[in-house]
Amino acid sequence: MTDLTDFISGLPKCELHLHIEGTLEPELKFALAARNNVTLPYADADEMRAGYVFHDLPSFLACYYEGMSVLLTEADFYDLAWAYLAKAQAQNVRYAEIFFDPQAHTSRGVSFDTVIRGLRRAVMDAHRLLDVRAQLIMCFMRDLSAGFAMATLLESLPYREWIVGVGLDSDERDNPPVKFAAVFARARAEGYQLTMHCDLDQENSVDHIRQCLDVIGVDRIDHGVNCLESEELQTEIKARGLGLTVCPVSNGYVRGSAWQDAVRQLLDRGLRVTVSSDDPAYMDGYVTENLLAVQATTPLSAAELVQLQRNAFEAAWLPAAVKDVCLAELDAYAGR
Ligand code: HPA
Ligand code: ZN
Repeated sequence: MTDLTDFISGLPKCELHLHIEGTLEPELKFALAARNNVTLPYADADEMRAGYVFHDLPSFLACYYEGMSVLLTEADFYDLAWAYLAKAQAQNVRYAEIFFDPQAHTSRGVSFDTVIRGLRRAVMDAHRLLDVRAQLIMCFMRDLSAGFAMATLLESLPYREWIVGVGLDSDERDNPPVKFAAVFARARAEGYQLTMHCDLDQENSVDHIRQCLDVIGVDRIDHGVNCLESEELQTEIKARGLGLTVCPVSNGYVRGSAWQDAVRQLLDRGLRVTVSSDDPAYMDGYVTENLLAVQATTPLSAAELVQLQRNAFEAAWLPAAVKDVCLAELDAYAGR
């Protein structure tokens, strides 16, 4: 079989499922801790990495939220996003849609304005200086109340032009999509695009995906792999042309090898599957490593690797003219 490692490296990529707080590498965490006089419970970056032990979504999330204590100023959020965008450029990510979790910061006393101004400035600088495009997606934390989510949505409105859509993340257990029906209806009315996490093998996973379609009317689904358990869901997702943002390395951390052929299966069924990296600093894999992880278990052809990127650019929340530029670049790489 052809080794496609170099092909994957150079492939123009589109990343649609990336939590900016999940890109906080231990080295940057120590630098920000020093700048902000925060004491970390580890001696150094290696010890911190060794302390990243998780086996399911809640154990990962505990580590992920704890790590945010060093993010306090606008400059911290700028540095965080800039570090990711520089990494993205090195992996030839041409466009990224980036989640951020405002409630994880406002609940610690860091203002919404501080968070978004830092992230926004990095996004603007990346376009100008790195030739990488990006947009921001605001996530609500589903394990917090719908009232807090609504208040956060209202707080975001003065920054509406800096945020392309809203998502839903954190612990899915006992926190179904319908809990946030009113919040997402208001977000839609404000012109935001809508997505939601449907994590793997949750209680009622299939039902939660159904709610995303029937009650929320999402424009995309994050993860969503459990649609493979329902022919009806697959038919509906396909009919609506919804993208599924699958994160193979992250899924491996949370569910072992249970769904390691998910990308292969979703591609074979003609669904608009994409590959992203979720929380790369905690899971040791940016988007290139995620594509290589798929190759290692269920090898794809060059044409299928291109198809994954085509799916992502098509599912992206970009104006048609910009999408066309990205797709033309992808076609040129693929030799069309
Ligand atoms: N699922 C839910 N919440 C999250 C995730 C995820 O994959 N990453 C960061 N917050
Ligand atoms: Zn995620």
